[in-house]
Order: sequence, then C-alpha cells, then structure tokens
Amino acid sequence: MTASYPALRLRRSRATGWSRALHRETVLTPADLIWPLFVTEGQGVEEPIHSLPGVSRWSVDGIVARAQEAISLGIPCIALFPNTQPDRRSNDGAEAFNPDNLMCRAIRAVRQECGDRIGILTDVALDPYTAHGQDGLVDDDGYVLNDETVAVLVDQAINQAQAGADIIAPSDMMDGRVKAIRMALEMGGHHNVQIMAYAAKYASAFYGPFRDAVGSGGLLKGDKKSYQMDPANSEEALREVALDIAEGADSVMVKPGLPYLDIVAKVKARFDVPVFAYQVSGEYAMIEAAAAAGAGDRDALVLETLMAFKRAGCTGILTYHAAHAARLLNG
Ligand code: PBG
Repeated sequence: MTASYPALRLRRSRATGWSRALHRETVLTPADLIWPLFVTEGQGVEEPIHSLPGVSRWSVDGIVARAQEAISLGIPCIALFPNTQPDRRSNDGAEAFNPDNLMCRAIRAVRQECGDRIGILTDVALDPYTAHGQDGLVDDDGYVLNDETVAVLVDQAINQAQAGADIIAPSDMMDGRVKAIRMALEMGGHHNVQIMAYAAKYASAFYGPFRDAVGSGGLLKGDKKSYQMDPANSEEALREVALDIAEGADSVMVKPGLPYLDIVAKVKARFDVPVFAYQVSGEYAMIEAAAAAGAGDRDALVLETLMAFKRAGCTGILTYHAAHAARLLNG
C-alpha cells in the first residue's frame, strides 16, 4: 500500500541538507578504509609510481610515518606490498619466507612504533618475489602448480605472522590455501591472526599499475587466467567464497571493486561473513585520469565510488585513496 502523487513526492525528503542527512541509508567513515602501501629498500626514500599518480613507494621509515598518519586520520588498517630488489627475486620466490625480507622489516617497524593502534594486513602470493612474476611456482611449461605453491604460501604466511601481521590476505587463488594457512597458524599459536581471503579475485586488466608498483609487471609473461577468475562468472565466485569460508576465512574479498559490485551484493546476500572489496590500482588510475582531464571532480568521484561500495554491502574497502578520503570525511 503506497500513496500516489501528489500525496507522495519523494523529492520532499531530498529538499534540504538536514533532511538528506536524516534519510541517508549508508554511512561512509574513515574506519571503513584499508590503505594499501608499497614498501621499498633504503632510508628516507619516496619513489613516485608513474602509473599511480599521487602514490609512492616508501622505505620502511616512510611506511611507519604513513601508519602514524593513518592512525591520526582514523584509518584502522594498512595493507603492505613489497617492491623486492631484482637480485632477491628467484624462480621459487624464496625471499617470501626470509624473516628479514622487506615485508617483515616493515611489519616489525610499524608494530614497534604503533603497537596495536593499527592493523597490518599482508598479502600472501609469490608475485613480488618471483623472477617470472607469477603468484606461484611454475612448471617447465609455465603452468602455476597448485599444491606445491600452497606449501610455500604457508611458509610465507607464517613468516608474516611471526613478524607481527594481523590479517593474512592470500591473493594467489590456489585451491585449498586458506585451509592450509589456517591450520599452520593454529599450530603456530597464531590463534588471533585473521585470514581475509581474496576469495573472488578476477583475471583483470585493472591490475597494471600495481604490477609496476611491485616491479613484477615487466617480468610477467602471459597472464594469470589459469588461477584468477574469468570476469564472465558470478556463480563461480559464490563457490569460491563458500569454500574459503568453509576453510576458515574470517572475511572475504571481491577484487577488483567497482566493476564487480554485483558480486559484492550477491556474496553479501548469500553469506553471513564480512565482505571487503579492493578498489584496485587501475580503478584509482581511472579516477585520477578523469580528474586530470577535467572530466569530473576528484573529491566527489572518490567519495561517490567509496560510498557505492558501502551501499553494495561492503564492510570495508581497500583503496589507494584512503588517506585522501579520510581527510575529506574528517572535514
Ligand atoms: C598479487 C596482487 C595483485 C594485486 C593485489 N595483490 C596483482 C595481481 O594479481 O596481478 C592487485 C592490486 C591492484 O591492482 O591494486 N597477487
């Protein structure tokens, strides 16, 4: 039963700012954001990333400063990605489980300076460490081996947990890795280390600037279609999410973000689990390019897209715009 025009005028509630505020269904705050950061070697180093204007790689001291900035802005979590030096990349990605690798040094430094005032999320996948740029171990034909890779990812995850990571985020899309990592974390006494599974991660054209940022882009031959999902599929995404939950994921992620909000909404409707989305590097670059070309207002584009993630059902969003958005939201 509903009234009809003119008794019903939906514009009444939109007429003033106070009324729009009163009727707003979705709220976006800095606490919804996770800030991805790129780590590089050195001291006092900031390296701008050309395909991600406004985003830099920072040496560990700079990462600590960004973490402190995040805390002051009300951002609860950072996500770390290393740009491993070329001579430390190998076919087996062994640097991934070196306890003194760049990631572990960054994790320990942030933990030491910031205590538990900020969460540290770490990506589990071999691509920042392999000479071939794939996320796992490859056979002679270049095929990424599943079970052999899972065994190495477990070592990588434990290495990160021992350094102090709070959320382990497997982004590799190997079958069975969440269960293997969860069991290893439990056996290692890391009961409170969470797993945020990149559950529905697509073989996307939107990852280009990220691969520049971690230095794997120039190395990668071919694509990642034998493990990342086909963009044509959504039923399969629900199967992936169901499996990762059954294997022990505390939360799941959909990636990329904006072109896949239908997946976010379906996951949210079907499962009682926190859903995150990754607004990936190519999406960030698109917004920056649009703003630079005068095709839209940067601040408005940033806030509208982040609100769209919340409206679709996200618990939180990984975004390179996190600090900027938080500043806008904090007024
Ligand atoms: C590594 C990883 C990728 C991203 C996050 N983790 C790249 C890839 O799978 O090739 C992409 C993030 C972005 O584009 O911002 N497995």
